[in-house]
Amino acid sequence: MSGWPTSTRQWRVAQRPTHLPQLTGPDATFEMATVPLPSTLHPEQVLLKTLFLSNDPAPRGWIYKDLEPERLYATALNQGDLVRARTVSEVLESTSAAFKPGDLVVSMTGWTDFFIVSSKDVQLAKPLPRGLSPSHHLGFFGVSGLTAWQGLVVVAQAKPSDVVVISSAAGAIGSIAVQFAKRYIGCKYVVGIAGSAEKCEWVVSKLGADACLNYNDPNFVADLKQATQGPERAVDVYFDNVGGSTLDLLLTRMARHGRVAVCGLISMYNQPKTEAYGVKSWFDVVSMRIKLEGFVVYDVWNRRSEAADLLIKAVEDGTLVVDEQQETVRVASFEEIPKVWLEIFGRSVSGKLVTKFVG
Ligand SMILES: NC(=O)c1ccc[n+]([C@@H]2O[C@H](COP(=O)([O-])OP(=O)(O)OC[C@H]3O[C@@H](n4cnc5c(N)ncnc54)[C@H](OP(=O)(O)O)[C@@H]3O)[C@@H](O)[C@H]2O)c1
Repeated sequence: MSGWPTSTRQWRVAQRPTHLPQLTGPDATFEMATVPLPSTLHPEQVLLKTLFLSNDPAPRGWIYKDLEPERLYATALNQGDLVRARTVSEVLESTSAAFKPGDLVVSMTGWTDFFIVSSKDVQLAKPLPRGLSPSHHLGFFGVSGLTAWQGLVVVAQAKPSDVVVISSAAGAIGSIAVQFAKRYIGCKYVVGIAGSAEKCEWVVSKLGADACLNYNDPNFVADLKQATQGPERAVDVYFDNVGGSTLDLLLTRMARHGRVAVCGLISMYNQPKTEAYGVKSWFDVVSMRIKLEGFVVYDVWNRRSEAADLLIKAVEDGTLVVDEQQETVRVASFEEIPKVWLEIFGRSVSGKLVTKFVG
């Protein structure tokens, strides 16, 4: 290949933050580095150029200050480590018969211009239905879709007779879970929880939820109680993306033998354990025989093609819809990668946050 890159820029961990990661100053969480690239590939390797980066809450967990690495579901990130992220990349060079220059592929690489990886850790980004951008391999047809499917189907075993509540309902996973619960499984009553009236409008009008409640509204607690009032509306399944006070409240609204699929706790990632919200409604777990089950997408990793094929077919036949709000794309330079990632802890993003990398 002519013009083989001799080096690559990387964003690395500079230090583990106790609170919200910092972009600049002495407490900056990340730092840029330039490292040399090997000039040839070993057998069965590919050289990749990053096109789209997935922005996920997960790296925040991998750099959590109070981390006990042996209790984490993935390898922790230490000082000096490349920040891992899933990407859609272009193959620049390959020593594998399975890939050729110009192919678009999905893999776990990181905040880097170029990356050399074993071909067994790379999947072809097959064309998506309705001409959708390959970036949706990072969200709807990727980890977000797989996690939504896992939480509802494998963990909660949601069924049409269920009342389902989903938090971060306008987020990457939540927005898919809402559609999947209502339009694919046919759950009888689906309530989303999101951070603004605009997001809630999308969750109801486009994603099909029966109701959506804004947790920043002063009437949120009363509204949730009203939406889940009486035996017909008691919550059979709570898909929890946020933890904290919302989980606490939902425990008091669960039906007997209700199931909580604990996907994540984004409201608590930017606090040390000593400041974390303490759940007060544990007696409800006992008295209402609630089952809480945490889950990790890697537990169903071998079923990702099954879930992706199911989602592709559902979009092709119109059961599920991928509209423009399903993905928020930020066009960004290399320097802007951490700043864009931090947006997942704000209110401005709907659906999956993807960085379109412009070098
Ligand atoms: N178990 C697994 O294997 C697995 C896999 C992937 C992700 N996860 C977890 O699943 C959850 C959802 O992930 P995702 O990728 O779909 O991210 P996401 O929900 O799209 O995250 C971004 C959204 O989170 C909401 N948010 C941010 N800070 C918040 C806070 N303090 N309180 C409440 N909501 C807040 C914001 O929406 P609002 O404007 O609505 O607040 C924001 O737009 C996360 O907890 C993540 O860690 C788990």
